[in-house]
Amino acid sequence: MSTENTTAAGEPVLRAHDLAKHFSMGGFGRSRKVLRAVDGVSLEIGRGQTLGLVGESGSGKTTVGRTLIRLYRPTSGTVEFEGRDITTSSGNRLRRDVRRRMAMVFQNPSTSLNPYLRLGEALAEPLVVHGIGNAAERRTRVGEMMELVGLDASMAQRYPQELSGGQRQRIGIARALITDPSLIIADEPTASLDVSVQAQIVNLLGDLQRELGLAYLFITHDLALVRHISHRVAVMYLGRLMEVSPAESLFTEPLHPYSTVLASMHQEREHRIVPRGDIPSPMTPPSGCVFRTRCPIAREHCATQTPPLREVAPGRSVACHHPGELKLDRSASGVRPEPVGVTFTDEPATRQARPVSVGSVPHTSEEK
Ligand SMILES: Nc1ncnc2c1ncn2[C@@H]1O[C@H](COP(=O)(O)OP(=O)(O)O)[C@@H](O)[C@H]1O
Ligand code: SF4
Ligand SMILES: [Mg+2]
Repeated sequence: MSTENTTAAGEPVLRAHDLAKHFSMGGFGRSRKVLRAVDGVSLEIGRGQTLGLVGESGSGKTTVGRTLIRLYRPTSGTVEFEGRDITTSSGNRLRRDVRRRMAMVFQNPSTSLNPYLRLGEALAEPLVVHGIGNAAERRTRVGEMMELVGLDASMAQRYPQELSGGQRQRIGIARALITDPSLIIADEPTASLDVSVQAQIVNLLGDLQRELGLAYLFITHDLALVRHISHRVAVMYLGRLMEVSPAESLFTEPLHPYSTVLASMHQEREHRIVPRGDIPSPMTPPSGCVFRTRCPIAREHCATQTPPLREVAPGRSVACHHPGELKLDRSASGVRPEPVGVTFTDEPATRQARPVSVGSVPHTSEEK
């Protein structure tokens, strides 16, 4: 079970404690199969702060995001948002307390926009669902939001297919912002865009954060990007958090062996630490420490004792029996200044970007 500090600076806008989301994969009784997509995640996001969430494909990042925004009902644990316990909120309370104040931006803006709705109608939809404003006020708000994200208000008459990928993502962001949320969950928001457009969208998100005081949970597998945009970074592996640290400390002085592996990817090839084997199935996670089958410094007790996430230095939490032991190679000439696009392997970012099913967050109480 994960415990304690993953503390955000200032008052947290969101706090999750020991959050789990398990999916039933069929079978009955003893043969019932359960996939532990998220298991014992505790985290906090401060107002106006960005928490980056990184991890390999399948580590549970999207499931964390969807559980926090209550598209999924947590299997266990609690979620507190803007001071309210929203773990079991439903109906009107879910609409009022969660869907209006927490919004999601998706990886693929093309599939999250209805091709049959003009952009103006798509943007106004959340306002209609929440009963905000009359038709004229909604039109004004739509125009304001389009300009806020750098689009001409006259584009409201167009359809999504008439826009470029970057413009569509700007609409996705405008739609997320239209009900005046305090927290945006951005799930790989730039992964399907060209590198030059990625930078524009990242800069836009940064400007909006400063202007509107937004908090972000920024989900990505792009290590250079997460380092660039996050105040703190949470590292996920097989449904669990391995480390939560300030972004710069995580990359210059990682404490968890898995973080060291990730940080070493920023160094020259010969200094990189490649973990053994493949990521195990979340249906049959290793006993004890889930990273032990790939950890270069695993010991016998790592197979029997699960390390809890615990604070080992101010603002730094690690789930490892031997934090700080696996170090970056100091003989490396230093961290390479990488452009946005460094991923978990040397493969191009496009190979990493898994097609995922996406869609708008319903502003209703629909959930799984
Ligand atoms: N709705 C679902 N039903 C069953 N399994 C799921 C579902 N969503 C995700 N999973 C599984 O949970 C694990 C974590 O998935 P996901 O949260 O999408 O990871 P990530 O976003 O880090 O790639 C994966 O093994 C995935 O196959
Ligand atoms: S607990 Fe053991 S196996 Fe797990 S990361 Fe730490 S040293 Fe490695
Ligand atoms: Mg995902």
